[in-house]
Amino acid sequence: MRRNRMWTLFAVLAVGGLILAGTSSAQVKKGKSRPAATKYLMRGIMQPNCKGLGDLLKDSGPADDKAWDTAACHAACLSEMSHLLMDDGRCPDAVWAEAAKTTLREGAAETLAACEKKDLAAANAAFKKATAACAACHKAHKK
Ligand code: HEC
Repeated sequence: MRRNRMWTLFAVLAVGGLILAGTSSAQVKKGKSRPAATKYLMRGIMQPNCKGLGDLLKDSGPADDKAWDTAACHAACLSEMSHLLMDDGRCPDAVWAEAAKTTLREGAAETLAACEKKDLAAANAAFKKATAACAACHKAHKK
């Protein structure tokens, strides 16, 4: 009888654990109600804006006002991503929150401000900070 109870308890805990694991991975891959998967936000918004900005800030930097404005546009989109990643129940834990809400949000805002001033050194330093968020979050959450 005692043994049976132990097994029942064990089974309940195991099933509960599976349900919890399922929920948290669902939040990482997709929000609770909006249809866009995290990988599409990454592929469609994060990656192209990160690459576009990185390319523009290379060497002697954006060539003219139009190019600086495009760099600012990329930084602004990365900034919005720092909000999207926190919306709709997508954020599973403190590592994610720190990467999105602090590292990416501050780094992108500083990059945007530097692009508006056309300050290449400041833009590169801030962009480096923003991209530290990619590695931090991926290390913990990208399978
Ligand atoms: C707060 C967390 C977080 C941050 C910050 C983050 N990512 Fe991601 N990224 C993920 C997760 C989670 C996945 C895996 C999604 C999946 O496969 O379901 C992913 C996947 C990707 C992918 C693969 C997408 C695909 O097509 O499968 C790319 C590319 C990517 N991220 C680029 C970036 C870049 C560039 C940055 C920084 C500018 C960044 N990510 C910042 C969480 C993050």
